[in-house]
Parts: sequence; C-alpha cells; structure tokens
Amino acid sequence: MGVINIGLIGAGTVGCGVYKVLTENKQIIEKRLGAELAIKKIADIDPDRKRPVEIPRSQFTTDAAELIHDDSIHIIIELIGGTTVAKDFIIESIKNNKHVVTANKALLAHHGKEIFTAASEKGVDVGFEASVGGGIPVIRVVREGYVANHIKSIYGILNGTTNYILSKMTQDGSDFAEVLKQAQEQGYAEADPTFDIDGIDAAHKISILAMLSFGVFLEFDTIPVEGIRHITPLDISFADEFGYAIKLLSIAKAVEEGIEIGVHPALIKKATPLADVSGAFNAIHIEGDVVGPTMLYGLGAGMMPTASAVVSDDVQIAKNIHHNKTHSSIPKFFQDTPTSKTTLLDPGDLVSRFYVRFQLEDTPGELGRVANILGKNHVGIESVIQKGRHHGGGDVPVVIMTHDIVEKNLLAALAEIEKLEISKGKNVFLRIVDV
Ligand code: HSE
Repeated sequence: MGVINIGLIGAGTVGCGVYKVLTENKQIIEKRLGAELAIKKIADIDPDRKRPVEIPRSQFTTDAAELIHDDSIHIIIELIGGTTVAKDFIIESIKNNKHVVTANKALLAHHGKEIFTAASEKGVDVGFEASVGGGIPVIRVVREGYVANHIKSIYGILNGTTNYILSKMTQDGSDFAEVLKQAQEQGYAEADPTFDIDGIDAAHKISILAMLSFGVFLEFDTIPVEGIRHITPLDISFADEFGYAIKLLSIAKAVEEGIEIGVHPALIKKATPLADVSGAFNAIHIEGDVVGPTMLYGLGAGMMPTASAVVSDDVQIAKNIHHNKTHSSIPKFFQDTPTSKTTLLDPGDLVSRFYVRFQLEDTPGELGRVANILGKNHVGIESVIQKGRHHGGGDVPVVIMTHDIVEKNLLAALAEIEKLEISKGKNVFLRIVDV
C-alpha cells in the first residue's frame, strides 16, 4: 500500500481535529482510499501548548518551510488562517508542487484568483471544502452534484455566531450586547467577534460560493455587507407580529442584468426551512435550473465538523495522486466561460420588500406626512403597525411593510423623513426575503 504524506501547518482547534480523525478513523480512511494517509510533520509556533489531543512532540517543528520543502510531502494543509503568512505558505507550497488544502475563507475571498491561477499553472490541486459551511459538503455539492445546473440563487445562513445570537435574542427577548456577552462567556463567540457580527465572515463565504456557482471572481470590497449590531428585540418582536424571523442572510443571485450579492439581516417568513434554522447551525438554500430548490444543513464550525471537511479534501486529493490523476479537483470555474453576466448590480437599484421602523412623535396627522413622503418617492405601503404611547414618552414606534420597491427610493424617503421634527432617532430598515 502506498503512502500519501501530509504536512499540517497550524495545530489549533481544527488542526487537532484533523489529527484526531486521521488517527481514530485511520483504518476506514485507508480502506476507502486504498493507500495510507499519514501526517508526516506538523508546523506550529507553539508545539508545547496544551491541546485537546495528544500529539507526539517529535511530530512538531516551528518552521513551516521544513514541510513546504520536504520532497516526500504531497499535501500541505494550511490551518493558520489570515491573509498574510498563510498566503505566502500556500503560494510557496504550490511553487513546490504541493497540493494544498485550506479552510481559509478570508484568504480565498481576497486572493482566490491568485491562488487558483498559481495552482492551475503548476497542475496541483487546492481543496477548500472547509472554507464554507464547516462540515457541510457544500463546495463538493455545488461543483459536482449540481454540475448540470445553472445555479440561479444561493441564500445562506453562513455564520453560526450571528445565528446563535439572533436565535437567543428571539427566544429570550434580550439585547444584542447582552447575548453577545453570554455567547463569548460560553465560547460560542470569539473574544474579537467583529468578523462574525459585522457580516464579514459570511461575506467571505458567499463570495466563494458565488465564485464557484457563477464562474467569476468578485472584488471582495465591492460586496455590500451589513451585520447585526443594530438589530433590537423590538424589531424582532415586530417582525414576529408580521409573521417573520430575522436572520443574517447571505445572498448570491444570477439575474438577467448581472450578479446580486450581499450579506444583510433580513426578514424571512416563519415556518420556512431557513427561518427554522436556529442556534449555531448553518444552512444553504440553493436553486439550480435543473435540480430546483434544495437545502443543506449542519454545523458550520467546530473542531470535528471542520476537520471532516478538511479530511474529505485530503482523501480526494490523495485518491487522485494514488491514481495518477492530479489537478482534477482544481475548479474549472474560473478557466471557463462565466455562467452569468459578471457585472455586480448596484444595491441601490435592487427591488425588494422592506420592513421599516420609524420612531415618531405621537401627534395627530403626522403619520400622514410620513406616508406622503413615502408615496412621493414611490414607496408603496403594504401594512402598518403603530403601537400605543410608552409611559411618559411622547414618541412611538411605527412600523411599515412596503410593497416591492427600489432600494434607493426608500433611502431617499428615509433621508427626508429623518429631517422632520416629529422624527425621533434613526430609522431602521430591513429587507424582506421570500425564500
Ligand atoms: N466564526 C464562524 C461562525 C465559524 O461563527 O460561523 C468559522 O467560519
């Protein structure tokens, strides 16, 4: 039986998960692969740190170059994250004819084109199953399972931290800040949760799915991204009254004029598959022209789910090496004709229904002025809720649900309404998405 050697860079949580699965499930993996898959060396800046699995000290080095330049290593797994050192290690590995497996969504979202081009030129593979949806095999499903389709749309709950926070806010009626603190204490949220709660992590993931599905590399910084810091229990409870849940939704759609992409908190009709995804789970709703609507669901993060995805790439690449067929897992998507127009649509031109909450002085006739401004800007109202006055205060929340409208018309109306004397505080507006 031949041996395929792996060099693992980064023995953090996921790295330890990869070590564990390759050790504990060694027999079954080898049986399925028909070859031995062995971690030859591990590079980590701190070999002596306490880890959730026991790894012999002799397996470690602090110098990743040792792995990258070892001729007996076939596959480099990069699990250090970030877009600087990780990129250098990957590019250097490719130059040294190594196949690469990575979970690094930020790196692929920002530098995917460079990495895939380098790999393609060298004829080596890049596996990135773990970069989106953790243990959910969405990359393989899109690339292989839906190969006969034009992908029409992807709606994803791609960040477990924000889904956990929004679920908890919905369940307990607590504030965002309070739930974030609890989530950090319980280890659900990072000490620096910025990438998660500001939607950046979800945007990295949707840009990778869009690249795969539509055959285009998008400039990451042009993707509209909105997080969940401004979501309040009040909005969650109003949405609930209208029959909706609020979720941080990643959207990528191919339409006639180009590609619509973005990450936004959105209202989704309750008791639909995406609205029912709660806690730290991820889900991805994909519609193809042949397959129709489908949904994948599972854990989008964590030591073992992510390790499951990393090892699936290792086995796939090892299988190719074993059968002398390398370079078959390099996505063809960017070498071929894009499947849709590649123009990124201006979010201002997008048409959607919206939830809008105003905080208005409770004076007779003033709602009429607001309605007039909305009408003048072609913002049609579908329904309105106005609550009674709060004790002592002179202003009340007024919520409207619009018909399908052009986003920039709503923004123009809101700018005008905010200038009215009766307007107390910033208006909140959220998309309503039918999926
Ligand atoms: N921090 C991410 C999440 C997991 O909360 O979903 C890693 O991508």
